[in-house]
Amino acid sequence: MVSLLVTNLGELVTNDPTLGDGPLGLRRDAAIVIEDGRVAWIGDAAAAPAADERRDAEGRAGLPGFVDSHAHLVFAGDRAAEFAARMAGEPYTGGGIRTTVAATRAASDDALRANVVRLRREALRQGTTTIEIKSGYGLSVADEARSLRIAAEFTDETTFLGAHVVPADREPDDYVKDVCGEMLAACSPYAKWVDVFCERGAFDGEQSRAVLIAGRKAGLGLRVHANQLGPGPGVQLAVELGAASADHCTHLTDQDVAALSGSGTVAALLPGAEFSTRSPYPDARRLLDAGVTVALATDCNPGSSYTSSMPFCIALAVREMRITPAEAVHAATAGGARALRRDDVGRRRSPTAPWSQWAKAGRSARTAPASVRRRRCSRPDCDRSSWRPRRGWRSSTAPTACSACCCWPCTTSPTCSPWPT
Ligand code: NIG
Ligand code: FE
Repeated sequence: MVSLLVTNLGELVTNDPTLGDGPLGLRRDAAIVIEDGRVAWIGDAAAAPAADERRDAEGRAGLPGFVDSHAHLVFAGDRAAEFAARMAGEPYTGGGIRTTVAATRAASDDALRANVVRLRREALRQGTTTIEIKSGYGLSVADEARSLRIAAEFTDETTFLGAHVVPADREPDDYVKDVCGEMLAACSPYAKWVDVFCERGAFDGEQSRAVLIAGRKAGLGLRVHANQLGPGPGVQLAVELGAASADHCTHLTDQDVAALSGSGTVAALLPGAEFSTRSPYPDARRLLDAGVTVALATDCNPGSSYTSSMPFCIALAVREMRITPAEAVHAATAGGARALRRDDVGRRRSPTAPWSQWAKAGRSARTAPASVRRRRCSRPDCDRSSWRPRRGWRSSTAPTACSACCCWPCTTSPTCSPWPT
């Protein structure tokens, strides 16, 4: 095992109040030791243990990688015209999802994969080291299973969203039966979670309940698109069934807030959607004051949220949702980890927490982090290795050739991403 000591971190977010100041557990002039890409030690530089390699962070800030708990990356096509229409005053209804379904069904596996690679790279460059990826633009047995198979090449946090909308040529109750039956059976081998768009125009409370219960029986964890476009039963259903997260939470009654408070269900807020659809933002302060665990995520998708950037979502949330910068950083790291029920990411407490280091200068959380993991070139005749930023999340799927042994950019494989030498 190779270890790296990083010294002279001007400001370090641990998300552990026992290790530093406030809920972020902030430490000044800190040092960390990373072993095999995971945090092994944290403290003052003077007390740091020996390590194989040493780096001076030159006063930069460090924090856990962002955890994006809500993203729709498997899609094809473009819906920029919808954005123009919305900016001209049209409301967002979710109806454009069917446009993306048609384009996604017509796309090849390679085209869908290349789109995930593009967005995943974009997100990683901006500090996202854990990401959830949903299906939901296939809406047939074969296309949903294909979407999840591709998603599973990039993350363990895969979500079956066959209940996104009812396809144009299907009758709703009949379609729900399929989602709960044949489609679920084909998709569950590739999925960790099941999700449903519980909203007027998509699935009502009873249909949503059927989908979630069937998913749970198949061994999947639950998540719900809830109360995005108007008040509805989504949040209450999520809490009642013990879902890991209720996502959007834009239109909440006092009863919804009370239900979330004290429950194990995280309110995942997605300000990129309100920004891209010019809708009212959810009120993070109201939730935080009621003791609700809040996560921030991108909702990256081709129709309602055109961003893969967690830093942008943090900035939007602070500007528009009555949340402080510190609370927003917490929601984008530890909050996201809670929303995915992961205790090995997003905070320091776990001895195996993966760590990210700010890539650029600055003494506070302003620039995108890049994860640090030593990589060895996969070519047997090459002995290069590097601490350079890792470009893939899963070493099992990410190519490991260095750029001296591999072309860059690669023109033959959409998943190829050699690290720089
Ligand atoms: O989370 N609300 C439902 N699903 C996505 C939107 C998808 C789309 O418009 O393509 C969302 O905003
Ligand atoms: Fe979504």
